[in-house]
Amino acid sequence: MTPQTFRALVAEQGPGDEFARRIVERNLDELPAGELLVKVHYSSLNYKDALSALGRPGVTRNYPHTPGIDAAGEVVSCTDGTFSPGERVLVTGYDLGMNTPGGYGQYIRVPSDWGVRLPVGLTLKESMILGTAGLTAGLSLYRLAAAGVHPDSGEVLVTGATGGVGSLAVCLLAKAGYRVAAVTGKVNQLDFLTSLGAKAVLSREELLRGADRPLMKERWAGVLDVVGGELLSAAVRSTRYGGAVTCCGLAASPELPLNVFPFILRAVSLIGIDSAQCPPATRHEVWQRLAGPWRPERLLAGAVEVPLAGLEERFHAMLKGELSGRTVVDVLTA
Ligand SMILES: NC(=O)c1ccc[n+]([C@@H]2O[C@H](COP(=O)([O-])OP(=O)(O)OC[C@H]3O[C@@H](n4cnc5c(N)ncnc54)[C@H](OP(=O)(O)O)[C@@H]3O)[C@@H](O)[C@H]2O)c1
Repeated sequence: MTPQTFRALVAEQGPGDEFARRIVERNLDELPAGELLVKVHYSSLNYKDALSALGRPGVTRNYPHTPGIDAAGEVVSCTDGTFSPGERVLVTGYDLGMNTPGGYGQYIRVPSDWGVRLPVGLTLKESMILGTAGLTAGLSLYRLAAAGVHPDSGEVLVTGATGGVGSLAVCLLAKAGYRVAAVTGKVNQLDFLTSLGAKAVLSREELLRGADRPLMKERWAGVLDVVGGELLSAAVRSTRYGGAVTCCGLAASPELPLNVFPFILRAVSLIGIDSAQCPPATRHEVWQRLAGPWRPERLLAGAVEVPLAGLEERFHAMLKGELSGRTVVDVLTA
């Protein structure tokens, strides 16, 4: 029997410009139209969730709002028959948690084509430890491989390596047989990064050494970047002839101060990554690999689990770049 009300974290603007977050009771009929009604068991914490929850511009237009770009749970009903009641599904990206009430509520209602059947080999909780960060890291690896960057091509660099996407990227690349170099601002996380499979750990300053020159010494066969800005520029300019670089994030900056030399003299490719609108066939393929050959055991075992009420301080820490690894959210027991 589906209850008429459920608990959800709601962010709203206070009397000043300050945003505050509360856990409130909501009605099922407040959810938007959509074929697929899901009882959410787990969600996760991503950079976009912190931006939305704290009222930062660029993610959510209208408040009060329930963030959570990831959700995994049980199908309650699906009016077009794509899923059966009781099936386990996950939803990541599209508009979930942006302007559609998201995974920080115990129920979501979304278009059925946003749903993905839980891949065999993952629990609901594991699927949310991966979540958007896992899909993004997986998609980046998938695109690097398609661009010809293989385990025997040479070292692959990961930036923002202790963060959600970065730590998963280190793990997935190592699992797939690549030699991984990790760049981080948290030099005290050396043990964490080597335990994930990094063979070399660099400080941001080391990566930027020589970055005042138009082209830098060739080192990387490939790069998986999550931070943008000067670090992405230096990474592109130190990529070897014919190498490839994926770009998915802006944790440092949305700007890219770069020249064309890496592209016209070294045939380097720069590949854009978007997990939110990723086409279903690719999405399915990447989830199958995440559940199988790339399954990142070390991270799946080491995620921090919090209830909805435990998110508050982590929203702030995330935007300051202070978190390491992944945060999974137990939504059911809120
Ligand atoms: N395109 C997509 O589909 C997609 C999907 C998911 C996420 N993203 C984007 O990817 C980025 C990372 O997301 P996330 O969830 O992994 O966030 P996260 O967990 O906060 O990780 C970001 C990491 O970047 C590094 N960093 C932070 N500030 C920095 C700075 N000023 N300079 C250099 N490095 C800095 C930190 O790692 P270290 O301390 O180890 O350096 C931090 O842990 C965000 O911009 C997010 O919006 C994009």
